[in-house]
Amino acid sequence: MPILNKLITTAFPLIPKVIVGQVAKRYIAGVALSDGVRLVKELNKKAIIATMDLLGEDVKNAAEIEEVKQGIFSILHSIQENGLKSNVSIKPTQLGLKIDKDLAYRHIKAIIELANDYGNFVRIDMEDATTTDETLAFYQNLKSEGLTNTGVVIQAYLRRSESDVRALVKNGANIRLCKGIYNEAPSIAYKGHQEIRDNYLKLLQIIFEGGCYVGIATHDEYLIDRAYAMINRLGLKKDQYEFQMLLGVREKRRDQTVNDGHRLRVYVPFGEQWYAYSSRRLMENPQMAWHITKAIFIH
Ligand code: FDA
Repeated sequence: MPILNKLITTAFPLIPKVIVGQVAKRYIAGVALSDGVRLVKELNKKAIIATMDLLGEDVKNAAEIEEVKQGIFSILHSIQENGLKSNVSIKPTQLGLKIDKDLAYRHIKAIIELANDYGNFVRIDMEDATTTDETLAFYQNLKSEGLTNTGVVIQAYLRRSESDVRALVKNGANIRLCKGIYNEAPSIAYKGHQEIRDNYLKLLQIIFEGGCYVGIATHDEYLIDRAYAMINRLGLKKDQYEFQMLLGVREKRRDQTVNDGHRLRVYVPFGEQWYAYSSRRLMENPQMAWHITKAIFIH
């Protein structure tokens, strides 16, 4: 199966979009905001909180960027109107980071201000390594402008992350810690499965000991077990951290984490621009080859 997975990964761009869509639909709520709202309501009934994400990245046209911002405003209105237990995740490149940094900053700030009016929170996702410096600088600037209802993401695969985390912890940052999903060069990123895990745990310890709130974003049993152990050892309270998982991934483990008494947040993406996100999720699925083959040959 790993060889077939590798082959399919290489040939991925050739796979018809309709097949990708069929296999990847478990990872997204749907195309409309109402799909996201319906799904978050279902999760909330199970005592699971959410972060809603309007799919899209790398937007380079000012009119489209404005539309994205309005779309994210609509999510915040809907969360408020429906009394959902959810915050919002955004991507700097969907708000123009690649074309005009000042414009992107203004849009992100407007979103966080609206969230602030609603008593809500905005997580700024972390994209590929060409955006790390600016994303972290945005976050620090927003905080220094008095906006505290926002947080960043740190990727454990990046070699720089320890120094980023140490700087963030000094500032009382709110951090989501994940392994990282983009294909980065070995000069800047750890590539080995175990070395990424080791760095993840090292960073988690620094964040915990620094007293910062952390979203432990992983489906990796090895990391979840060790995070539980660290939480017990440090005597942390339930409101000092949360676990986070992606929609459609390891749902039994997700329910177990809730039953164990931990706060758990699910990332709920929706929107027309589902292809890039869904492709990344499929690449991470150990059973990708089987699912794709099944979708092609068994209807
Ligand atoms: P790993 O990939 O080793 O997965 C552990 C196990 O989980 C697998 O063995 C498998 O059983 C299961 N699994 C994982 N992915 C699966 C899939 N797609 N389908 C089926 N099973 C799967 N990254 C980033 O660079 N920037 C960001 O802002 C974010 N944001 C983010 C938010 C949240 C809430 C989560 C959970 C993750 C992210 N990520 C992210 C993605 C993250 O960096 C990482 O790519 C994935 O979480 C997968 O890494 P794991 O730690 O789960 O380990």
